[in-house]
Amino acid sequence: MKTKSRLTKADITPDQEIRLFREFASWSKKRKHEYIKKSPRERALRLKYTWKAWARDKQLAPEGNWSTWVIKAGRGWGKTRTGAEWVIEKAEAYPGCHIALVGRTVADVRDVMIKGRSGIIPISPPWFTPTYYPSKRLLVWPNGSYATTYSADEPDQMRGPQHSFAWADERASWQYDDAWDQLSFGLRIYPSPGVEPQCVVTTTPRNTKAMKLLVKDPTTHVTNGSMYDNQENLAKRFIRDIERRYTGTRLGRQEIEGEIIDDIDGALWKRDWIEDNRLTFEEYPELKRIVVAINPPDNGNTDIEGPAEAGIIVAGLGTDNRGYVLADYSLPGTPNEWASEALEAYKKFEADCIVGEINHGGEMVGSVVKSTAESSGMRHVPFEIVRASRGRQPLAETISNLYQKKAISHLGAFPDLEDQQCNWLQGERTPDRFGACVWALTNLMIMYGSSDAFRTEDIEQIIKKDVEQWDLQLQAG
Ligand SMILES: Nc1ncnc2c1ncn2[C@@H]1O[C@H](COP(=O)(O)OP(=O)(O)OP(=O)(O)O)[C@@H](O)[C@H]1O
Ligand SMILES: [Mg+2]
Repeated sequence: MKTKSRLTKADITPDQEIRLFREFASWSKKRKHEYIKKSPRERALRLKYTWKAWARDKQLAPEGNWSTWVIKAGRGWGKTRTGAEWVIEKAEAYPGCHIALVGRTVADVRDVMIKGRSGIIPISPPWFTPTYYPSKRLLVWPNGSYATTYSADEPDQMRGPQHSFAWADERASWQYDDAWDQLSFGLRIYPSPGVEPQCVVTTTPRNTKAMKLLVKDPTTHVTNGSMYDNQENLAKRFIRDIERRYTGTRLGRQEIEGEIIDDIDGALWKRDWIEDNRLTFEEYPELKRIVVAINPPDNGNTDIEGPAEAGIIVAGLGTDNRGYVLADYSLPGTPNEWASEALEAYKKFEADCIVGEINHGGEMVGSVVKSTAESSGMRHVPFEIVRASRGRQPLAETISNLYQKKAISHLGAFPDLEDQQCNWLQGERTPDRFGACVWALTNLMIMYGSSDAFRTEDIEQIIKKDVEQWDLQLQAG
């Protein structure tokens, strides 16, 4: 059947029209914009909002019988845009369908997947823009299709609801694999007879078991991509920043090329030591001590591009004398900002104390925490100093030994911390989260841990075991 094309005003079939869109997509950005400028409004709008007229081939859903389409690509490749466009296409094609939108955190779903530059609302055509009800975690399209938003750090939200389609953004950075399991269980409503439910995963990859399993699954279709595939659409400054940060570094292949990178020769940590002992929140024992360790931003570290971050790690000592990494609150910011964040963590986890390391601004950390606590009306915040008498290297080695001996578990995944652990070579400066994690576990496992089973022989020389405590004795009003 012939239809009147709004693109060409000629009588052509839908297939021919798609071919025209794909031809348009192959033009340079400049030529496209010039053509649109000269086109009548209706045609210009249609072109502007037809994804097939812009997407690179790899950004269009593959043919075939896949259940999950994993787009594993470098920074800025267009992952989020591709996921959002796919969701819009499904919402339009299957009126009334229910879609799950899952991001790493509540803020990521709202600010990246829905309202961000490549998110669903800004890229939707005016005639098919969904209404967003943030308090109901709902997007509703004019044809009755609707999407519910979920945060991967609250996997319980996904227990129960059922969907026909799902989009999971930055899957490799989710803290809990349980979120993925719940999402998969709920993906079981046929959008129409004979059409299977499907999920799109868009992510910069990480070397995690979950990621490797997903990529290996025979029902998964994998698309790989490099940041440079999308350079035409990226600000030069963005590319320069990423290159400055990652070119020539071990993480470059992951962050720019989207490759899953293996263990690094000579690194103190192995991925398996973390993976094999990873636990969920249901699995960890009672904790007899919890600390929040701070490694202040290393502003003098010229290896780090972009704002230096304060490493803030929460960890606990179990009644089984094993160590548990509970949360990563690290952030870039002023001393007041990172101290407030650490105090938030201190309150939330009802921690026993805040920890700093003497050679890493420990005393400064103590005073900043003290003044911030005072100004927020907190009365009593114990602060302890870790003192590595033979430097931080033997200390990091000791903690990595504890990981190897299965004495430490991460509760969920902390991708940024784990990247730092598995990429750190001796002699390099200690990155933010990594340092904080070492100080926290030193305090718990070595200064307070009671089991000799996990002690290394020369522990006595490595750290001074007598605990230096500062009771800040705050005089808050
Ligand atoms: N085919 C395309 N045509 C035009 N613009 C595109 C195309 N693909 C992506 N873009 C644009 O490129 C920019 C980066 O895309 P997007 O935010 O989706 O990348 P990303 O891979 O999710 O990045 P990040 O790694 O930062 O999460 C956005 O402005 C997006 O709209
Ligand atoms: Mg993105």
